[in-house]
Amino acid sequence: MDTRVADLARRLEETGYLCDEELATVLFLSLEMSRPLLLEGEPGTGKTALAEAIAESLDRPLIRLQCYEGIDATQALYDWDFPRQILHLRALEALSDATKGGVEGVEEAEKSLYDERFLLARPVLAALQQSPAVLLIDEVDRADDEFEAFLLEVLSTFQVTIPELGTVQAATPPTVVLTSNRTRELHDALKRRCLYHWIDHPGLEREVAIVRSRAPEVSATLARQVVDVVQQLRSDADLLKPPGVAETLDWARALHHLGTADLDVETAARTLGALVKYRDDAERVRAALDRMLAR
Ligand SMILES: Nc1ncnc2c1ncn2[C@@H]1O[C@H](COP(=O)(O)OP(=O)(O)O)[C@@H](O)[C@H]1O
Ligand SMILES: [Mg+2]
Repeated sequence: MDTRVADLARRLEETGYLCDEELATVLFLSLEMSRPLLLEGEPGTGKTALAEAIAESLDRPLIRLQCYEGIDATQALYDWDFPRQILHLRALEALSDATKGGVEGVEEAEKSLYDERFLLARPVLAALQQSPAVLLIDEVDRADDEFEAFLLEVLSTFQVTIPELGTVQAATPPTVVLTSNRTRELHDALKRRCLYHWIDHPGLEREVAIVRSRAPEVSATLARQVVDVVQQLRSDADLLKPPGVAETLDWARALHHLGTADLDVETAARTLGALVKYRDDAERVRAALDRMLAR
């Protein structure tokens, strides 16, 4: 591994995040070239956690924009604090009864309503103001085309114009991580702006290491047994929703809470609620446990 890439991987590891060489390399390039990093992968493969780890290791604030169906630019940029503006207006009214009033007074009062004090910065604006920051645009596939176009513009200019106040530009552009669970395909234009990486579920050894790092209270033996079953479930149980690393961690912690030292079929069956969240999946797993634990 390139020493600088290895160094980056080591710093992420110090925060508890374990990445392979490919991911460390694309992240290194994204930082070096100031290009947004687009991460796609199944839920629970550590996309969001990577952005958190980057922020922690760079000691920069993490600003998160959670996308959802129907999100629009306002929710990403800024709002005016309407209740406070009204209060301010009331105060002005009370004062002006005693003083001047008139057209000039009205104009001035109006202007004073659009002061920075009354501006509520939403994630994208906040990331420009608090530079250098890490901006996580999470689950961008849940937003619509229009919002994607808006993001593209922001990611090209790293500036935002507020008509009443002027233009806000980041002193240093934020480090941007976009994630997608790939419920739909993103547009080529957005992809072109980014460096891309598909995160797969970790292999056996890495996943054991992740459990050891995130849940050190779980014994090495139990961690290995849990991961071994989870990996088999992913590859050959044909589940509606195969467990992600989050579920592996939940299951390992649940078993630890029960004082399990050695995983047996009966205990595994009793604790499936931490691992699979569909009734059909639970049935399928129950039927396969005997075989999987016998290995
Ligand atoms: N490579 C990794 N190193 C450390 N923890 C990981 C790793 N991958 C996943 N995790 C853990 O698994 C859980 C799910 O990860 P998350 O980032 O929420 O997944 P995603 O955003 O891809 O759905 C989190 O608790 C995260 O800390
Ligand atoms: Mg996520």
